[in-house]
Amino acid sequence: MELKEQIQPHAVLIPVPFQGHINPFTHLAMKLASRGFTITFVNTESTHERIAKAHSHKDDDNPFSHAEESGLDIRYARISDGFPLSFDRRANASQFMIGLTHVFQAHVDDFIENLVLSKPNPPVSCIIADSFHVWGSMIAKKYNLINVSFWTEPATALTVFYNADLLKRNGHFGRHDKYDDTISYIPGIQAIKPEDLPSYCQDADPNDIKYVFKCIEDAQKADIVIGNTVQELESSTISALQEQQPFYAIGPLCPTNFTKKTISTNLLPTTDYTNWLNNRQDGTVLYISFGSLVNLSKQDILEIAQGILISKVSFIWVLRHNILVSGERNILPLGFEEETADRGLVVPWCSQLAVLSHPAVGGFLTHCGWNSILESILCKVPMVCFPVIGDQLTNRKLVVDDWRIGVNLCTRGLIRREVVAENIGKIMNRSDESRKNIDKTKMLLQNALSDEGSSDKNLNQFIQDMKNKIL
Ligand code: UDX
Repeated sequence: MELKEQIQPHAVLIPVPFQGHINPFTHLAMKLASRGFTITFVNTESTHERIAKAHSHKDDDNPFSHAEESGLDIRYARISDGFPLSFDRRANASQFMIGLTHVFQAHVDDFIENLVLSKPNPPVSCIIADSFHVWGSMIAKKYNLINVSFWTEPATALTVFYNADLLKRNGHFGRHDKYDDTISYIPGIQAIKPEDLPSYCQDADPNDIKYVFKCIEDAQKADIVIGNTVQELESSTISALQEQQPFYAIGPLCPTNFTKKTISTNLLPTTDYTNWLNNRQDGTVLYISFGSLVNLSKQDILEIAQGILISKVSFIWVLRHNILVSGERNILPLGFEEETADRGLVVPWCSQLAVLSHPAVGGFLTHCGWNSILESILCKVPMVCFPVIGDQLTNRKLVVDDWRIGVNLCTRGLIRREVVAENIGKIMNRSDESRKNIDKTKMLLQNALSDEGSSDKNLNQFIQDMKNKIL
């Protein structure tokens, strides 16, 4: 056997401790482990506790026991992020991000040093850090490891960030008065409106902008970037990125076989809503969720609720207890839940894939988180888009303007109940164009994952590249 074939790479995977990052990282770990990698998967103590607690009543889909049972060499480790377990990381997001930059970095550094010194079998060969960590290159260099950056968002968002200087030179970065322009000078992006750039290129909090661009600077130093996207979805953008840096599109990194029990990395406990969904006709239920992080205003939630009342649609609405910055709990209009009791459910969290893949679900009102979009495509559910922050603004453009698999919930910044009802009606209409387009888009994702499909080939090529670098 060739020496190269005998190499068993050992990768240390370190996601940012948020749901939308832990999920794709978990599937990356399983994919690599099933192709012969040894994985050390590093969670923060707080994340580990939350996953363990969320699965304490049903252990069958617990990622920690799954790795052992399936024989995959995934070794879970946990390190402190520097805050006590009781610290509310969401309510104190800025403080938490500073901690992640400094204290967590120091803990990762110690952890890797000890791991390397312990001479594990096989030896550690690379670090795959979330591109939203600022220190991946520093740690990789210090311990002589291959530096892989994992970009969990679409390639379009990364390309925009990589070309921030161009935006600045043309007066399209930060606050400006050129919102009617069309930007057509970013390599690989044919045309984008300033309002569709990630919010960190627009009018975001200066500290957040500083943090994000530190991450981007670090990602640019990586030996290889892997992306949770698909070559055919963003082909010209990915080609342009590849001229700058080795970039492999290996997505979608989420479960794809919905008939099989999949493992879950939910940070919150879930309830099974299958029985409720079984009693609905196919394609009649709107699933509503704004992901794990964003805050909405009370006014927006009220208008959405009123729009749902007008539309008379059946729905499952995930309304996280911390959706409002204030943490206020009684958000819905008085009598809303009673009035919709025969056709709606308001829940704190759910297993999104279980809901989306149920035949009763016919539309998804989403904040356009990238994982939600990929999952919705895989389940052939067209979307009503209500982006809030970050890449979600760019993701909306891809879904509505480019791929035509969704509609806007409202004109940007102006949410009115009548318009909400009208757009929900559009997406739930079986003859809507987006419903036809999403079948094709799903095929594209499925083909990419199949043997010799683009994501499958890219993953193999990535693994070969890694082995070449180890030799
Ligand atoms: C954030 C960003 O918004 C997203 O664009 C970025 O790519 C990752 O970080 P988040 O806002 O949480 O993530 O949204 P999303 O990317 O959609 O990820 C949420 C994940 O939580 C999805 O995998 C979804 O399946 C899961 N989820 C959400 C549940 O399992 N249950 C729920 O009730 C809601």
